[in-house]
Amino acid sequence: MASSEDKPAVKEDENAGSWKDSIFNPRTGEFCGRTAKSWGLILLFYLVFYAFLAGMFVLTIWVMLMTLDDYVPRYRDRVPDPGLVIRPMELDMMFNRSQPLQYADYIKTLETFLQQYNETEQELNKVCTAGDYFDQEGEVGVEKLTCQFKRSVLSRCSGLSDTTYGYAEGKPCILLKMNRIIGLKPEGDPYVNCTAKKHSGIHMQYFPSGGRFDKMYFPYYGNKLHKRYVQPLVAVQLQLGKEDFNTELTIECRIEGSNLRNNDERDKFLGRVTFRVTVKE
Ligand SMILES: *[C@@H]1O[C@H](CO)[C@@H](O)[C@H](O)[C@H]1NC(C)=O
Ligand SMILES: *[C@@H]1O[C@H](CO)[C@@H](O)[C@H](O)[C@H]1NC(C)=O
Ligand SMILES: *[C@@H]1O[C@H](CO)[C@@H](O)[C@H](O)[C@H]1NC(C)=O
Repeated sequence: MASSEDKPAVKEDENAGSWKDSIFNPRTGEFCGRTAKSWGLILLFYLVFYAFLAGMFVLTIWVMLMTLDDYVPRYRDRVPDPGLVIRPMELDMMFNRSQPLQYADYIKTLETFLQQYNETEQELNKVCTAGDYFDQEGEVGVEKLTCQFKRSVLSRCSGLSDTTYGYAEGKPCILLKMNRIIGLKPEGDPYVNCTAKKHSGIHMQYFPSGGRFDKMYFPYYGNKLHKRYVQPLVAVQLQLGKEDFNTELTIECRIEGSNLRNNDERDKFLGRVTFRVTVKE
């Protein structure tokens, strides 16, 4: 222990010297313990290393882009199920059937929406075989044909015979459609079933009859290839009577008869939709 007493003084000198030397040692020409040549090699190594990494990255991305299809998303584990949506896009509908101004917006929405289903528009599309998928794999990149869906199919909900879509009568029409899903081919025979909660007596009338979505409108090939595509529609007319006016009705519509999901707990618009209707008089 005693012999070590004089050491600190000496060490301090050594430390000071080696600390300075560790930055730049004039005797050996070392900077931070390395010669210029050594530093040069290190820099070169990192330069080559990072250039290599960047090269790998670019190559990987390029290879991936080369294998991607321009039109169809390739990596999907399964085709997702469609949501069900309504027109007018109003989940809380309320109007007095005796006051046209109160339902004017609903009618306007329906009229605008149905323009693309006009006779003249749809005459340009193909008359397809009902009940069969309209597969058009064929050549890649060729524009796909669309099956005709004329609004006249919606009969009393087409806005052609009754321009108020039943609203003036207090029997409103609501249009339903599935969201577009590329490549979707519903199995079975999908149809819409609407029920009124707590008012099970309300009669619903569907157009086309049975509320069916025909298979010929599937699959959809995407916006780029299927420019003229229109979704098939189902109209439901609520056949309300005196006893149903001035009360809030909760209507739930579901896609049934197929493999499409309609009871997902987390997504209440998957294959179904719930909305409220109050018709006053
Ligand atoms: C669709 O038909 C309605 C009347 O049936 C007409 O007023 C409207 O201009 C037509 N729209 C298109 C885009 O052809
Ligand atoms: C519609 O749904 C109701 C309630 O879930 C059910 O009782 C009825 O049988 C269904 N109708 C059809 C045609 O599937
Ligand atoms: C609906 O409109 C009619 C005519 O304007 C009016 O007499 C009636 O009181 C209205 N009903 C309600 C519930 O506001």
